Amino acid sequence: MISYQDGTFRLDTEHTSYLFRVTKYGHLETIHYGESLKDQSLDAILLKHTAVIGSTVAYDAADELYSLDTLSLEWSGIGKGDYRHSPSEIRMPDGTFVTDFLYQGYRIVDGCIPMTTLPSSYGEAEDCQTLEIIMEDGPGEVSLLMYYTVFPRTDVITRRVVLENHSIKPLVIRKLMSMMIDLPNRSYSLVTFHGGWIKEAHRQDRRLQYGLFVNESTTGASGNRHNPGFLLAEQGASESYGRVYGFNLVYSGNHYEGIELSNQDLVRVMTGINPHCFEWPLAEGERFETPESVMTFSNQGYNGMSGHFHDFTNEHIVRGDWKDKERPVLLNNWEAHFFSFTQGKLLRLAKRARRLGVELFVLDDGWFGKRNNDHAGLGDYTVNRKKLPGGLSEFSRKINRLGMKFGLWFEPEMVNPDSDLFRAHPEFAVRVPGREPSLGRSQLVLDLCNPTVRDYIVESVRGVLQEAEISYVKWDMNRHISDMYSPCLSNQGEFFHRYMIGLYDILQRIFGDQPHILLETCSSGGNRFDLGMLCFSPQIWSSDDTDPVERLEIQKGLSYLYPPSTMGAHVSSAPHQQTLRATPLSTRFNVASFGCLGYELDLKYLSHMEKREIREQITFYKDHRKTMQFGRFYRLDAQKANKQHWQTVAKDGQESIAGFFQTQSKAAEGFDYLPLTGLDAKSRYTVRTRPQPLYVKRFGGLINHILPFHIHPDGLLVNILNKFYTLTDCVEEYEGYGDLLLSGVKLNNQFIGSNYNTQTRLLGDFGSSLYVIRRES
Ligand code: GLA
Repeated sequence: MISYQDGTFRLDTEHTSYLFRVTKYGHLETIHYGESLKDQSLDAILLKHTAVIGSTVAYDAADELYSLDTLSLEWSGIGKGDYRHSPSEIRMPDGTFVTDFLYQGYRIVDGCIPMTTLPSSYGEAEDCQTLEIIMEDGPGEVSLLMYYTVFPRTDVITRRVVLENHSIKPLVIRKLMSMMIDLPNRSYSLVTFHGGWIKEAHRQDRRLQYGLFVNESTTGASGNRHNPGFLLAEQGASESYGRVYGFNLVYSGNHYEGIELSNQDLVRVMTGINPHCFEWPLAEGERFETPESVMTFSNQGYNGMSGHFHDFTNEHIVRGDWKDKERPVLLNNWEAHFFSFTQGKLLRLAKRARRLGVELFVLDDGWFGKRNNDHAGLGDYTVNRKKLPGGLSEFSRKINRLGMKFGLWFEPEMVNPDSDLFRAHPEFAVRVPGREPSLGRSQLVLDLCNPTVRDYIVESVRGVLQEAEISYVKWDMNRHISDMYSPCLSNQGEFFHRYMIGLYDILQRIFGDQPHILLETCSSGGNRFDLGMLCFSPQIWSSDDTDPVERLEIQKGLSYLYPPSTMGAHVSSAPHQQTLRATPLSTRFNVASFGCLGYELDLKYLSHMEKREIREQITFYKDHRKTMQFGRFYRLDAQKANKQHWQTVAKDGQESIAGFFQTQSKAAEGFDYLPLTGLDAKSRYTVRTRPQPLYVKRFGGLINHILPFHIHPDGLLVNILNKFYTLTDCVEEYEGYGDLLLSGVKLNNQFIGSNYNTQTRLLGDFGSSLYVIRRES
């Protein structure tokens, strides 16, 4: 995995190689990160320095060709001739900002070197190897320890640094990235994932231009605006072709990714904690560790790259009992009730859910204190006896007796000013003395930098967990941080990062010894969807947007960085709260099934046929969820702008599920085909549409083209018919060897007005189908 020879380090995964060397002055020069290389002379790919470039500063008067500005580096300082952005900005013990870390030595250890303050990836000695490189600035004064951990099977290399002050004088860190690498530009596009509440993770592509592009968060969380994960893709790369680099960060706080194209056509990539409002002093003997950054590369397009990230997350990030374990189908009562429920209402919903096949009942916000709207009660985790007279223990027992597990919502990092907690402990809330704090969703943030607050949260959440039979927790966090100040800190530049260390400490103390609890984190949906959270919670609520058409973009965006096993995805009622769009129930399921399936609607309003449809959906999902959650997930290049295609292939290759999604329908469109991938060319398969019902109301007045008699399109008869009778959408069946199917299955025509027959697909706006592909021999 890792070797060192004649000043060159070589890190190999199964399909990638990463090489760098120590220069004659002791800087680390990046030689290659990309495809696997044979062991050979590297001269051909080294950057050449045969002429002095004007306006450069020579590092040493004795060698004017050696300028840090034109080198491809693994780390760079300030004030020695490299004028690109630096991964660090440190007021050094001598009071200057000049840094020049030089190589001193290395060691290689099997396995990972655990971190002390932050979560990180993990692996056994046979799974990974770690290289520690010791760099120093000023002999024995300040050390920079650079860590590279190589995960060969998942083609991931992680990096981080630790800064140590050995000087008797203090230093102050104003910026310290987790990694830096310079790559030769190949007309790269930068792909980032942007959005906001109910519109998370929308993919954005931009051609790299000279200068610096920053992808960052300043909200206190990794954020729904700009996910910390991003990609660099060569021009023309597609889902299945081309060279693509992926980067991410195991961190849930303010992050910073700087991507700078220099005038010498080197692309500098840096990722780490955001320097925004950050300042961290180090006294003699103190050290600071940065979060772990994650890198991968594939020459098999975006799918190759995201496959590495998916395997890495499932293998080396998600831990505990739920690692590799199929996730239960849940029902969450939020969109059904919001704050307005009684025990009777909940139990009726639960019974209905059980009859449909749901395995876990989740009670969302509103069960405690005076939490009858979002203005009050947050922080008071004492059950509301008006809503649940027998308390949580009795209620959870009732749910368990119905044959379902019980799950509960908390928002432990927050407090409403109108709460008993705030009245008793106003000092627990984050606020600047002498200033009115700003509210978000009528709430304030609790000061996780304060150990007393952390103890309070741990005790109150653990207390509730002990009181009832709870198998699942939804841990929410519903506002961005403002008014950053903690009386516990002498230096407020530490606030954001100490908050995050505090949060990780709390999560570890509550859930570390309860790995059976399935933790789903959430932050107004996907406002904290990151690898740091996934070290504690195997799944994250992807978005408060449950409209499947929106979800196509959100889940697709997330899938570049995170596997389907991490994405909470629910079926809700339509028209959708977020968009007023009406979508077919089948599409709501078809999209949600490519994640951890849940339902979030009031089942009492469902018709007989809709209940039947949901029962069939859940049965289908249970039969295939191992593939849906843990199979190899592919986005397929769409043939047309109004289509999306997803596919997942079981790890053992025995089955695959493909999704065909249509957004806007088009009149008399050309043929549709189902692009397929991931099949073995020499194996024989069958392909079959998952049968799904067609509701007669969908046809409106066109119903009269279908029925042998004439009826009022919105009359009583149609309405009754719609409740108790459905047509079945066209089911297609094909067979063939992988080589044939991989060229794309041509599908039957879509319905265009008067041609209903059982061989015609009815999709319309927002229609979709799933196809089950089975290996027969
Ligand atoms: C946030 C979550 C929702 C729900 C509400 C409850 O918005 O994202 O899923 O839990 O809070 O207040």
